[in-house]
Amino acid sequence: MLKGKHIILGITGSIAAYKSAVLCRLLVSAGAEVKVVMTPLAKQFITPLTMATVSQHPILVDFFNPENGEWNSHVKLGEWADLYLIAPATANTMAKMATGVADNLLLTTYLSARCPVAVAPAMDLDMYAHIATQRNMETLRQDGVHIIEPGSGFLASGLVGKGRMAEPEQIVDAVKGILSEKKKSLEGKHFLVTAGATIEPIDPVRFISNHSSGKMGYAVAEALAERGAKVTLVSGRTSLAAPEGVERIDVLSAEEMWQACVERFEQTDGAVMCAAVADYTPVEVATEKLKKSDDDMKIELRRTKDIAATLGAQKGGRVLVGFAMETQNEQLNAEDKLKRKNFDFIVLNSLRTEGAGFRGDTNVVTLIDAQCSEELPLMSKREVAEKIVDKIENFL
Ligand code: PMT
Repeated sequence: MLKGKHIILGITGSIAAYKSAVLCRLLVSAGAEVKVVMTPLAKQFITPLTMATVSQHPILVDFFNPENGEWNSHVKLGEWADLYLIAPATANTMAKMATGVADNLLLTTYLSARCPVAVAPAMDLDMYAHIATQRNMETLRQDGVHIIEPGSGFLASGLVGKGRMAEPEQIVDAVKGILSEKKKSLEGKHFLVTAGATIEPIDPVRFISNHSSGKMGYAVAEALAERGAKVTLVSGRTSLAAPEGVERIDVLSAEEMWQACVERFEQTDGAVMCAAVADYTPVEVATEKLKKSDDDMKIELRRTKDIAATLGAQKGGRVLVGFAMETQNEQLNAEDKLKRKNFDFIVLNSLRTEGAGFRGDTNVVTLIDAQCSEELPLMSKREVAEKIVDKIENFL
């Protein structure tokens, strides 16, 4: 469940920082991508070299790199993360977090983080029991920060009591629990999702269609519904069952899908256009089965209406997300669609990438908006859907 998750590991100046290397290694081997932020004092307890090696990323300590002036953006870091875990968290850092002090990169990142935040306190037993520390921890709890309780035992001071940072394995379990909590962050919101392939009839037995199974769109509908959104799924041909709690409208042709979407879009807070919609449809549909002859056959096709472009032209403050299935010049074509159809962001998948696109249970996508482009690794379509919904939340 940690596969593909983005975790910031914050390390503060405590002797328990030696456990952070093991913690980082466990997170990375479970499939998470970990970026480490350290306070200046934390470097006295564990070296940046150790943490860079186990996390496979350079360590972030300062607001900028004094060698070349490169800025370490705490805002970007905060947006990137699915979870911000501070382990160990000293009494000093928790006090600063509780009052909004932002005098180092670890703390500014806390104030910028839009994701869940967890702290694993580590300190001497009297510091931990002190009313000021307890008050600060209560403030953090009320602010929604998850506290991973310390254990009891031998402390660095030689005393015995509560204050030892939880063991790395326990912290990983807590992280999994936090990430699997169903966030009802979209309660009260309504989304339209299109999925599957459209069918353009030629005669009563033949049609033009494509390879879409509906899996990607259904995963997006499920992820939105799990976060509490009302979801209307306008579905082309697929053999999938509607996800729990999702209203499904079955359509066949691009024209029917256009009609169903245009009728409902105004009542929504946004739409995700995942369906593979036919761009052309036969000009005439034969009422009887076309008989073969010795001659070749020509079928005249006309353009269908572009559903996404229609919604894009009337979107107002709604969030509109598109998909681009490409086979060449992927990035350029996707950026062109982003602008042309007035999407807030577009999800690019390419048929040239193994594990991406039609039918399978996985996808490899790049999320592109007007400012930036984020390539995601191979993930299940359900995990990709979570990333898409996370980004939608940022746009709302
Ligand atoms: O269903 P799966 O088997 O899981 O496969 C998933 C998928 C590959 C179908 C999906 O990930 C995907 O890429 N969907 C969009 C495929 C596509 O047709 O892209 P496009 O580049 O032709 O269209 C661009 C965007 O405009 C899409 O958001 C599309 O839904 C929309 N569109 C296109 C044509 C049209 N007439 N109306 C539209 O709304």
